[in-house]
Amino acid sequence: MCGIVGYIGRRDATPVLLEGLRSLEYRGYDSAGLAVVHRNRLQVTRTAGRVQDLRDRLDGKTATKATIGIGHTRWATHGEPNETNAHPHTDTAGRIAIVHNGIIENAEQLRDQLTGQGVKLVSDTDTEALAHMIAAEATEGVTLEDAVRRALRHVEGTYGLVVLDIFQTNELVVARNGSPLVLGIGDGEMFVASDVAALVRHTKQVVYLQDGEVATVRAADYRTVSRPTTVEAEAGDFELGPSYQDFMRKEIHEQPEALRRALRGRLDERFATARLGGINLDPRQLRSIRQVKFLGCGSAYYAGQMGAVLVEELARIPSDAEPASEFRYRNPVVDPDTLYVAVSQSGETADTLMAVQELKRKGGQVIGAVNVVGSAIGRECGSGVFLHAGPEIAVASTKALTNMAGSFAMLALLLGRVRDLSAAAGQRIVSGLRALPDQIAQVLSDEDDIAEVARRFADAEHMFFIGRVRAWPVAREGAQKLKEVSYVHAEAYQASELKHGPLALINCSMPSVVLVPADELVAKNISTIEQIKARGGPVIAVTSADLPADLADATIRIPRAEPELEPLLLNVPLQLLAYHVAAKLGRDIDKPRNLAKSVTVE
Ligand code: AGP
Repeated sequence: MCGIVGYIGRRDATPVLLEGLRSLEYRGYDSAGLAVVHRNRLQVTRTAGRVQDLRDRLDGKTATKATIGIGHTRWATHGEPNETNAHPHTDTAGRIAIVHNGIIENAEQLRDQLTGQGVKLVSDTDTEALAHMIAAEATEGVTLEDAVRRALRHVEGTYGLVVLDIFQTNELVVARNGSPLVLGIGDGEMFVASDVAALVRHTKQVVYLQDGEVATVRAADYRTVSRPTTVEAEAGDFELGPSYQDFMRKEIHEQPEALRRALRGRLDERFATARLGGINLDPRQLRSIRQVKFLGCGSAYYAGQMGAVLVEELARIPSDAEPASEFRYRNPVVDPDTLYVAVSQSGETADTLMAVQELKRKGGQVIGAVNVVGSAIGRECGSGVFLHAGPEIAVASTKALTNMAGSFAMLALLLGRVRDLSAAAGQRIVSGLRALPDQIAQVLSDEDDIAEVARRFADAEHMFFIGRVRAWPVAREGAQKLKEVSYVHAEAYQASELKHGPLALINCSMPSVVLVPADELVAKNISTIEQIKARGGPVIAVTSADLPADLADATIRIPRAEPELEPLLLNVPLQLLAYHVAAKLGRDIDKPRNLAKSVTVE
C-alpha cells in the first residue's frame, strides 16, 4: 500500500526520491508525488499515474539541486485516486509539506474544524488536514518537531509521516504510530522510508522508529529511541536481474534457497528436534500449551491452516487457524494455555496486528511468524520465528508461504518432541525437512511441463481445487493464487464435500485440480477423480502417488516426501500453474488489479 520516502543531504534530492519511490512500487499504489525545496520555495509535483509518469512530468525540472525532499506513492483511502488527492499535501501558504501513511480516523471532524476556521481544503484527504494543523502550530519560536507533536495530539488513528518546512530546510520531522517508518543512515546524509526496499541501495544502517515516536532528522544527525541495526538484504534482492521478467517467477525459483535459509541451524539431528530460540519458551512452558491457534490473512491464513494440521499430527495438540481479520472483530475467548501464532510475511497487515493487540490486551500468549525484520507485528509479538524468505516483492506470496509452512513443521516437531513424538519419528521429520529444498528444486525443474498444462487450461472461466485433510489448505492456497494473478474464478473444496453440493457445477468446462498425495487417502482421491470424470469434468492431478496413466487429463508429478511434509511440495506446481495461466492471459503478474502487497488499512 502507500509508500514514503524522504531525503536530506548533499545530493540532488529529486532523483534519490524518484528511485526510492520506484523501489516501493511493488507495494501497490494509484498515484504518486514528491516535494522538494528549491530557492526557499516548495516545488510539489503529483500525478494520478505511476512513478514513471511522475518522472516524465518532472523532466527538465529534475536538476533543481534541491537537497531536501519527501515523496509518496498513495493507495487511496480518503478520496479518489486523482492528482489533487495525491501526496505530498501542503498548507495554504505552501510552507509545510507532508507525506502520510495510515488513516486519520477523526479526519472528518478535523476537516470540519479547519473549514470552520476559514481554511480552504483543496483535497478530500485526511492528510491535508494535518498539513494545515502543523502550519498553524509552527509559530515563531516553536520547533517543527514541537509543531508536529502539538498537531498530532488532536489526531486519532494511525500514521507514519514525514514533514518538511521551507523555513527549516536543514531538517525533516518524522513520526510513527502504527505505520512503519525507517531511517537510513548515510555519510552526511539521511534517508527516510516506509520500507527498507527504498533504503538498501544507499545504506545498510537503519533505525526502525517505534510507535509513538516523533523525531527530527538532519543530514548528519538524528535522535531516536531505537538504536541502528544492519539490514541483511542486498539491493539486488529487490531487483529482477537478467534472468526473470517478473518477481513472482523469480521468487518461486528462490524457494529452495529460501527454505534452506529458514532451516539453517534450526534442525537438531542429535535430539531429533528443532531449535527455535526466538520463541523464548522452555520445555516446561512448551508442555503446558494445550492448544495452538494460527492467525493470519489470505495466504498467511492458509499457511496457518497447514501449520495447524502439522501441530495436530506431530504434537497431538488441538490446533486450528482463523483469519485474523475475523478474530479481531468477534470478541474472542482468549485462553491463557493457548499458544497464538500471528502469521505475516510483511509484518504490517493491519488486521493481523490488531488481532495481536487484542490478544495482548486479554493476556494471550502470542508469538509471531514474520518475514520482515523490524516490522510492526514482529515487534508487537516480541518473540517468534523469523521466516528468512528474503524480500518478497510480488503481490502474490510464494516463497514466504513455503517458509511459513516449513517453520510450522519445525514448531510442530519441537512441540511433539517435548510430548509423545518418539526420537525415531522426530528423526524422520528432521530428515524429511532437510530433503525438502532439493525436492522443491526438482519440482521447479519440471516447469516447462507445468507451463504446458497451464496453457492448455488457461481459457477456463472457472476452476476447482480439490484436496483433503493435509492437502486441503494447499487447495485453498492454489485457488487463491490462481484468482489473484490470473483473475480466473477458482474455488477450493474438500474432496469429501464435493458430493454435498459443488458436484452440480462439474461439466466439461470446469477443470478440477485434484491433489493426490501418496498417503493413506490415495484410494479415496482416485475415486474423487473418477466421480469428476464421470460427469465430464477435466482433471489435472498433482500427485506423488503412482496413479493409473490415463486417470487424469493431465498429471503433474512431484517427488515423494514424508507424508506430513508433502503439502509443501504439492503447493509449488500450483504456484507455477497460476503463474503460467496469468502469463498466457497477459496479466500484470506482479501487480494484480485492486491488490496491494501489504494491507496496512482495514
Ligand atoms: C498472498 O498471495 C496475498 N497477496 C495475500 O493474501 C497476503 O498473504 C495477505 O494479505 C497477508 O499478508 P501478510 O502475510 O503480509 O500479512
